[in-house]
Amino acid sequence: AANKSLLVLAGDGIGPEVMGQVRRVVDWMDRRRAVSFDLAEDLVGGAALDAHGVPLSDATLERAKTADAVLLGAVGGPKWDDLPFEKKPERGLLALRKEMELYANLRPAICFEALVEASTLKPEVVSGLDIMIVRELTGGTYFGEPRGIFDLPNGERKGINTQVYTTHEIRRVAAVAFELARKRNNRVCSSEKANVMESGVLWREEVTKLHAETYSDVELSHMYADNCGMQLVRAPKQFDVIVTDNLFGDMLSDVAAMLTGSLGMLPSASLGDPDETGQRQALYEPVHGSAPDIAGENKANPVAALLSFAMCLRYSFDLAEDADLIEEAVKAVLAAGVRTGDILAPGTRAVSTEGMGDALIAELDKRAA
Ligand code: NAD
Ligand code: IPM
Ligand code: MN
Repeated sequence: AANKSLLVLAGDGIGPEVMGQVRRVVDWMDRRRAVSFDLAEDLVGGAALDAHGVPLSDATLERAKTADAVLLGAVGGPKWDDLPFEKKPERGLLALRKEMELYANLRPAICFEALVEASTLKPEVVSGLDIMIVRELTGGTYFGEPRGIFDLPNGERKGINTQVYTTHEIRRVAAVAFELARKRNNRVCSSEKANVMESGVLWREEVTKLHAETYSDVELSHMYADNCGMQLVRAPKQFDVIVTDNLFGDMLSDVAAMLTGSLGMLPSASLGDPDETGQRQALYEPVHGSAPDIAGENKANPVAALLSFAMCLRYSFDLAEDADLIEEAVKAVLAAGVRTGDILAPGTRAVSTEGMGDALIAELDKRAA
């Protein structure tokens, strides 16, 4: 098989710690399976800022665009929190998403059986949970104009962000959700606030139209985003695929993370449109951030990052078997009681970030033997 080029952008805080474990699994795949990777590393976020004065250099953006896939850790941290807005580490990640046109962010929330007890919710609420949040990633309040902080004549200031969506932006992300639903349980719940926002009215109308035109075989429902947050905690298994905007998707996916036991369990894929050859621009990253409270302690859960690499194998390289192998190995390791601190339960032992990586590699070796 031809070499697949991977660009690793580990970023800040626990980013490099969890990506260290991903590198081990990439190396393992390279050695043990019929797939070869060309792995390169570069800087993003605070790390890039410290080295180059910008959170994402043009050269790094170019490398990201030409790589077959990008694997990202996390960006940000207290060290850079007081910088001017355009310099913040988070701007680097947002620029990557925007410049690579990664408009569809897939955030699957799956509760592994071994972690049912690790959730803060009752076992029957989360047991068997398997939902997919499709978050619009290049529009909405994150990018809408006008925006900024402005001085008012009376000496006050005002901060502005604007929710903007076009029909095209809504339709393309909704299409991704419908296509995914067809391969799952065939249900899409579209979430906005059409009761208070015009952009929400447009969102609902366009999703409804696209559904009637092309996807009437899929079951479609609509839910206000505030209710959706409540329903995710009350009865999450009512959902199959949820499609929502950039900001609501950010919040709803952190809520969904706790259904799986920990934010340290949630992976994601950010995808663009396929080109003539069917290849998509793609970036894979855990949903969690740089976790400054535990950074540098070798305590972070690397599973979200590892499962993000599994999503890379599945969505960018069509290597479903290899993706399954990683996911099954993760399940087995958790079932054996190997846990990082965030998913500890009675009768299980806490291991380090590295320890989780060790257990996973050992499990992969066992399965490939
Ligand atoms: P966070 O996700 O970094 O952390 C929230 C809580 O979850 C913390 O208590 C943290 O210890 C815990 N946690 C997160 N990931 C974990 C893991 N893998 N294992 C164990 N525990 C984990 O969110 P925050 O504290 O609000 O943000 C910290 C910084 O990260 C900020 O600068 C923020 O902008 C940035 N951030 C970046 C991304 C990203 O790069 N995609 C995502 C979210 C936040
Ligand atoms: C996420 C993060 C990012 C977001 C930040 C770091 C820009 O919270 O990926 O969920 O808000 O999209
Ligand atoms: Mn977030």
